[in-house]
Amino acid sequence: MQFTYRNLRVVILVSIGVAIITILTAISPTIANPPATGEFAGPDSVRAIFEHACYDCHSNKTKQEWYAKVAPLSWKVYADVQEARRHLNFSHWDSLSSGDQLTKLWYIVNMVEQGKMPRRDYTLAHPDAIPTEKEVNILKNYVLSLTNHQPPVQVQTRRVSQGPVVSGEIKRSPNGIEYSSDYRHWKVITTTNRFDNGTMRIIYGNDIAVNAIEQHTIRPWPDGAVIVKVVWNKGEEDADGNIYPGNFSNVQFMIRDSRKFGKTEGWGFARFSTPQLIPYGATVNFDVACIDCHRLASANGFVFDVPSHKTEE
Ligand code: HEC
Ligand code: HEC
Repeated sequence: MQFTYRNLRVVILVSIGVAIITILTAISPTIANPPATGEFAGPDSVRAIFEHACYDCHSNKTKQEWYAKVAPLSWKVYADVQEARRHLNFSHWDSLSSGDQLTKLWYIVNMVEQGKMPRRDYTLAHPDAIPTEKEVNILKNYVLSLTNHQPPVQVQTRRVSQGPVVSGEIKRSPNGIEYSSDYRHWKVITTTNRFDNGTMRIIYGNDIAVNAIEQHTIRPWPDGAVIVKVVWNKGEEDADGNIYPGNFSNVQFMIRDSRKFGKTEGWGFARFSTPQLIPYGATVNFDVACIDCHRLASANGFVFDVPSHKTEE
């Protein structure tokens, strides 16, 4: 090659480039893997999916490929992992209450199902990290099994059939829904115990709702279906391990009217809290927060507690 100033310029520019990358790489932050204090401890089949597809970002067990340590990618990967861990860290899973874990798991299933997680920039380099259909089903069945668990001890629902008794007028919910105690005569769809925060939930359905579950017509739920969740604080436990509901905490309604409640996916939400069944919500739009979370159960027509053996597939 003949010496020219043009060539010299190229050589200098390339050298500067290499030097910059080398320096940026050398000073790029390294991703530390601090000890896991409360690793996710679900079934092996579920853990394996998370470990394979999510742990590089959402755990303290990040493995970094060599090229991910080279600037400028190293900086981006560092920032992504920090952010991912802040949102969800399977190595600190135990620090979440079981209620929060369940909500997160629903969120996870939703995101994986929609292909939003693992992130696309990651799967471009790791195409095998995209969960297969079979793996998505494993996740889904696991979360459903948690949502629909039978109570570990017998809940004495008979003792609570009275429901809260309030004298005087009960105000309407900001979206116009009125309190009604009809649910006392309805079927119990399921009960969930949340001993960690000391509450017990009983979920009732009116005939239309119960039929819809039995007939597999919950996508969408028929108009007129009503589901009521009554939350009790945990009461005393007798010698046989029966748990009795203690003080009443609140009642939550989901009323199906696809036209009237079109804004919230056809469900009217309301919540009345103890002791005077005070309606919840500062504005008419309080229910947006309700449906935002209930969207995670879109596979069940936005209802979490559908007995799994009755779920449509
Ligand atoms: C390449 C890194 C990366 C991988 C791999 C990855 N995520 Fe994420 N994830 C992120 C980042 C960054 C965020 C926060 C910003 C965002 O939402 O994009 C996030 C956010 C989330 C959230 C939202 C958490 C919240 O509370 O807001 C969930 C849920 C989630 N990820 C689940 C998963 C699951 C499940 C997997 C594996 C199947 C996975 N992610 C794989 C980087 C990743
Ligand atoms: C952060 C998420 C979240 C928000 C916000 C939320 N819910 Fe729920 N809801 C759940 C979960 C999870 C369940 C199932 C487990 C349980 O019963 O505790 C549930 C169950 C219910 C049920 C029983 C039917 C079902 O879907 O299983 C009703 C009724 C209900 N919620 C009403 C409401 C109302 C009314 C609001 C707003 C005032 C609301 N929810 C806000 C997560 C949420």
